[in-house]
Formats: sequence, C-alpha cells, structure tokens
Amino acid sequence: MPPDCLTHDFIGLDTRYRLADGRVSRRHYLDSAASTLALRCARQVADDLLPHYANTHSDLHFSARIVSRAYEWAHARVLRFLRADPERHTAIFAGSGCTAALNRLARALAARRPERDVVLLTLMEHHANDLPHRKHAGRVVHAPLTGDAPALGAVDLAALEALLHQYRGRVNYIAVSAASNVTGIVNPVHAIAALAHAHGAWIVVDASQYLAHAPLSISDTGGADRELDTVVFSGHKLYAPGSPGVMVARRSLLEDQEPDEVGGGMVEDVRLNGYQIARRFPDREEAGTPDLIGAVQLGAALAALERAGLERVHALERIRLRALLDALAALPGVRLYGELDLERAPRLGVVSFNLDGLEHGLVTAVLNDYHNVAVRNGCFCAHPYVRELLKPELWALELDPDAPEAAALLERRQGMVRASLGWYTHEEDIAALLTGIRDLLARPEHYRALYRPDADGRFVHRAFTAPAERDFDPDAALERALARSGVTRNML
Ligand code: ALA
Repeated sequence: MPPDCLTHDFIGLDTRYRLADGRVSRRHYLDSAASTLALRCARQVADDLLPHYANTHSDLHFSARIVSRAYEWAHARVLRFLRADPERHTAIFAGSGCTAALNRLARALAARRPERDVVLLTLMEHHANDLPHRKHAGRVVHAPLTGDAPALGAVDLAALEALLHQYRGRVNYIAVSAASNVTGIVNPVHAIAALAHAHGAWIVVDASQYLAHAPLSISDTGGADRELDTVVFSGHKLYAPGSPGVMVARRSLLEDQEPDEVGGGMVEDVRLNGYQIARRFPDREEAGTPDLIGAVQLGAALAALERAGLERVHALERIRLRALLDALAALPGVRLYGELDLERAPRLGVVSFNLDGLEHGLVTAVLNDYHNVAVRNGCFCAHPYVRELLKPELWALELDPDAPEAAALLERRQGMVRASLGWYTHEEDIAALLTGIRDLLARPEHYRALYRPDADGRFVHRAFTAPAERDFDPDAALERALARSGVTRNML
C-alpha cells in the first residue's frame, strides 16, 4: 500500500468555516502536534464493533467474547507497532493521553527503587513528562541541550553522562521525549538507553510526538543494552481521537509489586479481609472498565500505519518539512526555533516561529480568521523549553521587571506560533500558511488595528465573532440525530 493512499481518508479534511472577510473556505489543519485528525478507516473499525458492544469483564455471552477478543487484538497491535516481545512486554491502556501513564510510571518506579531518588529529564520535556517525576522522585535534574538558543538541538549526551556520574548510584531513570512537541527535534533514545543502563538506571520514553511520524522499535539492533524499558504515547496524536493513552513496559518492571491502581477486573479474589491481585498482564494493570472502542480504533490506526509503512510516511513528511523550513527561513521577519540543520538535529514535522513585531497570539488569530489556517500558539505545555529558546530575544527586551506593563508585555512575548504536520498534510496546507504569513508581514498595522487584547492576553477581533455553537451545536446535532431516528420533540 503506498504511503499516500490513505492521506485523503481522514475525517475533517473538508471542514469549512466562514472567515472574517466573509469568504467560506476549507480549514488547513496544521495543529497535529496537539491532536491529529481521525483516520476514517480506523473509526470505521470501531463503529463496526459497536453493534457487539458489551463489557470485557463479562465472559461467556457472544458479545463479551467478541469484544474481549477485539480488546486483546488492540493490545497485540500496540506491542507489534513497537516491535515489543509479547512474552516480556505488556501494553497497558490508561487515561486519555500519556499523562495518566506517566503519573503511574513515576509513582511505580519511585516505589520500586526508593533508594534511587534522582530522575534525569531533558530541558525539552512536555509538562506531562516533567511534573509527574517532580512530584514523585526525590529530585529531578534537567539535562541541557546541544547548541545555543534559539538553535538548540537534541539532548547533550555528554552532559547527560556527566549527570549520571555526578549522581552515581542515585539515578532511578531517565525520562526523555523521543521528539519535542515544540520543535519536533528527535532525541537518540536508544543511545540514551545504553547510557542509562550502563549506570543501572532505566529509561522512560515519551513517544507521543514521535509515533505518528516515524517508526520506533522498543529494541535496537545495536544490542540489548539499547532496549527501551518503557514507552508511553497518546492515541489522540495517532489518528485515533477518543482512544486511551498507552504504556508499553517490560513486565519485570511492574510484576512483584502491587499495581498502582486497584479496582474491578484486576483481582483473582476479594475477601472482606484481603484480596489477591491477578497475575495476568495486562489485566492486573487495567483496573475498571476499559475504553474498549477507543483502544480498538487505535489498534486499527496502528495497523493502517504499518500497512502504509511508517518509513515511507516519514519520508513524505520530510519533504514537506524541508519545504516549509526553507520557505520560512527565506522570509525576512520570520524567527525560527531549534536547530534547522536536519542532518545535525533530525526533526519531525513541527515548526515553531515568531514574526518580527507581531505577538504570537495576534499571528495565530489572523492566520485563523483570515486564512483558515489552524495553528497553535503559546508555550505548548513546555514552558522551560520555550523560555530557553526565547532567552536571547527576551533578554534583548531590556524590561524593567518593576514597570507596570512588564508582566503583560512578557505574557504576550513569551510564546511562539507552532505549525505541525500530519499524514494528511498537503502542499496546499503549507502554501496557505505561507500566504498568511506573507500577508501578515506585509500589513502588520492593518491587522493590529482589527484586534484588541482581552484581559487574558488573547487577541479578539473588534468586529468578527465566530461563536462555536454556530458551527457545531450539540443540542442541534442531537435534534438532527433524533429526527433521523424518526423521533420528534413531541414524542419525548
Ligand atoms: N500538549 C499538546 C501540544 O503540544 C496538546 O499541543
């Protein structure tokens, strides 16, 4: 199956909105780092399961057997996607992104080796792969990145190794993203695993931003010491919105320890004076009724990606990314963040930027309101990294911290605009972004006059509003659905 044969099979590629100048146009979705669009064929698999819907904790009726088998299939697809060994690894669904899995891991790994009280992170982590470790480890240390701001690269391996020496015998694990959600810059996770293991530490890899774009294997041909101990990721960033977060872990890290969460479905027996935890993975780690439909949708998305060949999906994305980076770098007035040399610092399809003299909030509002380009702005739940990338320009502001307007100015300057690509991103989406940026750079004062900042620092159009309920009203959607089912208001 060629990698581009499914690029039109996503829900939402033809979503249209009315813009501030009255035109109605197709949305250009460039916010895939936040959440990807839904792969239609994967959603179809989940919908096909719904007529059989039942609880996986029931055993014997037809539907229970069908859904239990489908749920097992979803676990198996996850393990296969990461080329994990089903005998040694387990896949666990938890929460709605990777945050729940990372909190559980942080608690479980801290409890497993309390004598190792240090966790090493990198400066580019998303808060989800930072705060849980801050909360549960004795101490976290953020390893620096290579290069100088704003052209920072991946984690500095020499500095990481120095930290492992400095905290000899105390580092429980290294928690690192496979790719940044701000710059898309990729960390060499298997090399980091080897470093960690040489010092008796484990590695936790947050692959949320990676797996929709490039293949990742839990093991590595370079040797057993390069194997990843745990990998977490989010289904909503893998073309399966509404699916759970995922943790893949070596079973030996979790067994012989009470699971972090307890409840129904993970016990052999419960008496008034005690209970016996199931031995079977993943059941023992998945207390409560699972998000079965979401998990099966995710399993189907992973299977479709595998069929398309993630290497080839990645190669296509690299072409688009290179074109976007080159076009932006050629525009005077565009500031780009992170190392731009893809050989020196490989990156996935995520590009963060600012435009001279224009606040990131204003740029994002204009791109949306006048060009129908959906991008995100702010600090992307990675405040320390964004601040580090912006350091030279914030420093250049020469702000008097006591001046009354300093906080508001910082608030508006501390952030970026982020364009992020997905499997479905086409040249015309990138062209629309570039057109919008050129337009903004050509007429900054025209656009500034059209907006005012509100109390939260958001840029609000003075004349145009697009109330969310105009384009989607859940009550109206229910009325339509009821009408399709032949139910009128009087009948209810
Ligand atoms: N934190 C996710 C992002 O990067 C949602 O946008």
